[in-house]
Amino acid sequence: MDFIGANILSVSQFERADIDRIFEVADTMGPYARREKVTRVLEGAILGNMFLEPSTRTRLSFGAAFNLLGGTVRETVGITASAMAKGESLYDTARVLSGYSDVICMRHPQSGSVAEFAAASRVPVVNGGDGANEHPTQALLDLYTIRKELAGNGRALDDFRIAMIGDLKHGRTVHSLCKLLCLFKKVHLTFVSPPELAMPQALVEQLRAVGHTVEVTDHLENSIAQVDIVYSTRIQEERFSSQEEANLYRGRFRLNREIFTRHAQPNTVIMHPLPRDSRAEANELDTDLNEHPSLAIFRQTDNGLLVRMALFALLLGVEDQVDDYSYPV
Ligand code: CP
Repeated sequence: MDFIGANILSVSQFERADIDRIFEVADTMGPYARREKVTRVLEGAILGNMFLEPSTRTRLSFGAAFNLLGGTVRETVGITASAMAKGESLYDTARVLSGYSDVICMRHPQSGSVAEFAAASRVPVVNGGDGANEHPTQALLDLYTIRKELAGNGRALDDFRIAMIGDLKHGRTVHSLCKLLCLFKKVHLTFVSPPELAMPQALVEQLRAVGHTVEVTDHLENSIAQVDIVYSTRIQEERFSSQEEANLYRGRFRLNREIFTRHAQPNTVIMHPLPRDSRAEANELDTDLNEHPSLAIFRQTDNGLLVRMALFALLLGVEDQVDDYSYPV
């Protein structure tokens, strides 16, 4: 794809070569993310960060990534802080904000809303999560992490096994990740969820159509025994019609040190898109794994910075000039 000026709305827009290119650029961003070098390649550019649903890492890492490339960030956080609370449309908001920005990142509670916004925008728009639909940059950083972690174990993206656990119906990160995995070969996926929160059948069929094997189960311990990656997710309580309904499922699958040690291979990698729900009634990924070397959740968040820096550089066409505008710290 031609990255310059493109919207990033869904992982379905990528081909394998595009993923390779994003990861190649992300690999060059380490010295800047680690503050060993400074670059001013995006000096004068403005990121409009519009987050109309709660976020910690996506919003802050988009902002930090843009700052680390030398650009400036302007933010709107929460619908009540925007004129949408007064009835302003996505169209008008996009026309206005795109006059103030060189690129816009947006999170919105409704599926398809970011695409509607992007259609009216005069600058590239990156989807930071639209309802239960997609979270493309999370999938990119997840895949980038899987690639790095597998390499550490002598494995590769074209032949690995992953168990996805939790609310697979509402979890946009797993939806985007599954679509991305269709670009690779020989992936074995195990979906672990209550039947009511199963991975959408269309995605299961899409994975099988490209030759991947898919197992569906509600048994946690068996599912983690023979996999390279365990990808835990939270029950997305904000997508349920009531808290009571969400409570039926919270705490159903809990991964902790005892279960992991007893059932998984020692070098199995533990991932989670975060936030994990650490309240006692949920606790899908226990803090007693915090110091376990297999726990990759904070390597994931660090990788998010590299991947988002790479995307900004590609969308604004400066990926080959980052070093030209750099100096050592
Ligand atoms: N993974 C993720 O989207 O986290 P935030 O909701 O904190 O952005």
